Amino acid sequence: MKQGTLLVLGASADQLYLIETAQQMGLSVLALDQNPASPGFALADEHAVVSTRDVEGIVTFLRTRPGPAPIGVLTMGSDIPDVVSAVAGYLGTPALSAQAAHLTTDKLAMKECLAAAGIAVPWFREVFSTAEVEMLFAERGPLVLKPIDRSGSRGVFLLDGSSDFADLFRRAREFSYCGRVLVEEFLKGPQISTESILAGSWAATPGYADRNYELLERFRPQIMENGGWVPSAFEDRRPETSRLVERAARALGITHGVAKGDVVLTPEGPFVIEIAGRLSGGDFCAGLVPWGSGVNYVRSAVQLAIGQAPDVADLTPRFEQAVANRYFFPPPGRLLGVDGVEEVEAQEWVTKLEFWYEVGDEIPESLSHAHRFGVFVVVGPDRATAQERVDWVYRTIRIRVEARDERLGFETQSPLVSELP
Ligand SMILES: Nc1ncnc2c1ncn2[C@@H]1O[C@H](COP(=O)(O)OP(=O)(O)O)[C@@H](O)[C@H]1O
Ligand SMILES: [Mg+2]
Repeated sequence: MKQGTLLVLGASADQLYLIETAQQMGLSVLALDQNPASPGFALADEHAVVSTRDVEGIVTFLRTRPGPAPIGVLTMGSDIPDVVSAVAGYLGTPALSAQAAHLTTDKLAMKECLAAAGIAVPWFREVFSTAEVEMLFAERGPLVLKPIDRSGSRGVFLLDGSSDFADLFRRAREFSYCGRVLVEEFLKGPQISTESILAGSWAATPGYADRNYELLERFRPQIMENGGWVPSAFEDRRPETSRLVERAARALGITHGVAKGDVVLTPEGPFVIEIAGRLSGGDFCAGLVPWGSGVNYVRSAVQLAIGQAPDVADLTPRFEQAVANRYFFPPPGRLLGVDGVEEVEAQEWVTKLEFWYEVGDEIPESLSHAHRFGVFVVVGPDRATAQERVDWVYRTIRIRVEARDERLGFETQSPLVSELP
């Protein structure tokens, strides 16, 4: 007998780990997604085709659904804390407050709140014209321009001396749902992803990974990372960074729940770029951390969503191994084929290899994480070995594309190595 139903918003590849974890905990899963072909539908105990951004549609569906109501609602990898909060309000189950959900999805309100709480954040300002961006650039040097309300690096641009300010300003604004953008000082230093569990009287940060920016030059002016690493090369700065992101999460009103942080380790200490009020996608909580330490804090997130106290013991590392995940970003064009798949899959240290396009599909230009072509995860006894394995997979997988633009018609997947400016 299942102990109740967890409502999972989304049933794409991003939510599979959440669906599986909830089921392992003895819960029945009801998955909603607007895509009738969602892979999570086959796994879930129950599913329905409903958009995860349509609160009214979700509530209407729940109202007419027979049987006991779900005992909690959660998502993973999808930046919709506002929807989770509203649906939880209807169900009477725990979630972020509407105010906290708002603060984690409005980058301007978030930074104002964090700055007021004394949390280190980059200098920032909302901007209304290209002229203003140019003036601020002249005054302050390298800036990051971004929409106030998007995620997945959509419309996030690094501005430098060679930037077409007018074009980037227009593009960032187009990405914003509300047509608003801000600029921030570009912080120099290693970039870290964190993920924290807040449980009222205590908090823990079981997720701490390096973000890999070796493709920065290729994507420029777009800022997009190409995967991550655990253990971090900066474990010595972990305690300080963990306390900072936990304080930041609390300042935003996250008392019970998950907080995913983007942090830059500057010479002046760690700075918070943003805190998202949700579980990470992109193989962080579902890949790097469980493979790197045996910890599954998605369990803790489920416990919080159904009103249980998370088990602290779940968050204690059980082992340590190096893990890296990396993405494939082939040039745009029609996909002719992918070679080397069997050879890569045959390695026991490859824990994941996935492609999201099929032969004949048009591959779009890589403008955000929404355009990733595929991903792989490798494990190893140490970072050096994991790196060799990453390089081997990139060499072995050949993505053949009929390129639309000859200049982009390269076949190699080896990243062009470059340093952050
Ligand atoms: N002020 C900044 N300094 C340095 N890097 C930044 C800055 N702002 C954003 N970035 C980089 O761009 C990425 C995406 O920006 P972010 O604000 O996190 O937007 P998103 O919601 O799309 O993730 C960040 O993870 C970080 O790597
Ligand atoms: Mg981010």
